[in-house]
Amino acid sequence: MPQVVFHKAGEVYGEEVADDTNLVVLAGIRRFPYPYLAYGCGMGKCGKCACRIITGAEHLPPPNWKETKRLGGAIDDGYRLVCQLWIKDDIELVQDRAIAPPAPTAAAKEA
Ligand code: FES
Repeated sequence: MPQVVFHKAGEVYGEEVADDTNLVVLAGIRRFPYPYLAYGCGMGKCGKCACRIITGAEHLPPPNWKETKRLGGAIDDGYRLVCQLWIKDDIELVQDRAIAPPAPTAAAKEA
């Protein structure tokens, strides 16, 4: 079972999780790393779950199109959308930076 080490605001939280765990889903049911992991939509749109991967990135699949769209150049700095990741191997990550929310669409501006 993967060991997850999560850093937030200078604190470190660690726990073993089941294979194929999604940390946003787990936080959504108020399990580790709730309440420390900030998240929003759970669908790769808002960017609130963005974390920088410290170790274990080599075990993750390449960023999907939602991550590429939302994170842009932050991917090159090691950021991933945690709601899009299913953890299969040990990982260490930090939530240290807010990713800007998506710009409103023209339709949203008119509403
Ligand atoms: S929770 Fe919204 S992008 Fe991950």
